[in-house]
Amino acid sequence: MVATSSGRDGWSSRTGFVLAAVGAAVGLGNLVRFPAEAAANGGGAFVLFYIFCILLIGLPIMLSETLIGRHGQASATESVKKMAAESKASSAWTSLAGLGVLSAFMILAFYCVIGGWVLYYIGIFVSDLFQSGVTGGALVGMTPDDIKAIFPGLLENGGLMAGLDAVFILVTVYFVARGVSGGIEVASVWLMPAFFVLLLGITIYGAFGGAFSEAVTYLFTVDFSKLTGPVMLAAIGQAFFSLSLGVAGMMTYGSYVGRDVNLAKTSTMISFADTSVALIAGLCIFPIVFAAGLSSEGGLGLMFDVLPHAFQSMPAGSLIGLAFFVMVGFAALTSSVSLMEVPTAWAMGKFGLSRHKAAGIVASLALVLGIASAYSFNAISGFHPLGFIPLFEGQGVFDALDSVTAKLFMPIGALLTAIFVGWVADRRLIDSENGLTGGLHQFWRFLVRWLCPLALTAILIVGIFPSVL
Ligand code: PHE
Repeated sequence: MVATSSGRDGWSSRTGFVLAAVGAAVGLGNLVRFPAEAAANGGGAFVLFYIFCILLIGLPIMLSETLIGRHGQASATESVKKMAAESKASSAWTSLAGLGVLSAFMILAFYCVIGGWVLYYIGIFVSDLFQSGVTGGALVGMTPDDIKAIFPGLLENGGLMAGLDAVFILVTVYFVARGVSGGIEVASVWLMPAFFVLLLGITIYGAFGGAFSEAVTYLFTVDFSKLTGPVMLAAIGQAFFSLSLGVAGMMTYGSYVGRDVNLAKTSTMISFADTSVALIAGLCIFPIVFAAGLSSEGGLGLMFDVLPHAFQSMPAGSLIGLAFFVMVGFAALTSSVSLMEVPTAWAMGKFGLSRHKAAGIVASLALVLGIASAYSFNAISGFHPLGFIPLFEGQGVFDALDSVTAKLFMPIGALLTAIFVGWVADRRLIDSENGLTGGLHQFWRFLVRWLCPLALTAILIVGIFPSVL
């Protein structure tokens, strides 16, 4: 265990922190959601606007969250409480972090179900590799209809999904229970480099064997007529999800950072790495999809339905398919670890529990909600927990967890963070933490005080009343 200045367990180095935070940020959001959103929202226009959102809204909020955590050197709620008290502001601001803790827990519950799906596909490609050998194509002997049936078949099988969810949660809790430097950091330090090697390897493979130039044109040709209101909102929402903002995650990770680290620099590095991975993921996936003559598709089907078809027609398809899903699994795991750490750190601070106990309780509760999510695709698909609210009408447990957090809780959490850091907290505290000087400092302050709150309010209004667009 490495202690920070406050005597708590903390990152062993700045690199350890950056890798863990990149591990938190890079996940299913980059690999599944980003390409699918780009496909659903017209390619290049979405991508360009997404990059603007990262720079002007995501990055300033990332710095705001990490500085609250670093200043507090405690769980997210305690860190906000401390900063509010030192700024002579109401302790009610603590609720912004409380909401984040709740969101992180809710995302954890459905995220690990998707992690379980990734395990299932790893299993498919492992057995495929044994059957067809390293150089063989993937899923040999299966007709397109057979492949098409894999994903719906999985969604029909609640018991299998619940079991795989449990396995994914167990692996996650293993790292969280071992602590910050001894568990979370270790996972990131090993898995993130392996992730990058796999991502680059598969992308280079696709660049030579796939339809690379078609993919580049698709992702980077901007047709401004496609930049509509809904596309812009999808881009902002995706930027938040991808950078893990609005769920107190970066506050929690920031609380393990030593005082010698320049947070403006590390926030920039983390955002840059996350955005690069999203773009490379696009350049990894679309060449493979286009080369197989398939069309891009939004939603989860892009990864779990379209890609397996594409792997079938590739040389060494089963090996590439396996490498691909292992890579997705690594990215998902470092993110689920960060999601579990937020409520775990909160429970440790709030109830004085040991890390083992806190992590065990969080994992068990996430499993209960995960099982309900798994069965919401089949046995209890008619159960719509928030069906009485028009916004969540017709949504089962899995979908409701996703949309409540993405459309409401994350933007509210981020909005409150921007207002707290920009308007409420004592300026001297903020200035001593953020690592910025001169014009950049002024610009960051302007973004946090004006642009972020306005943009986030717009997201919320449109999220709640979609008909205004
Ligand atoms: N950013 C992660 C991803 O892209 C998801 C996540 C959201 C993780 C919020 C932690 C907190 O997959």
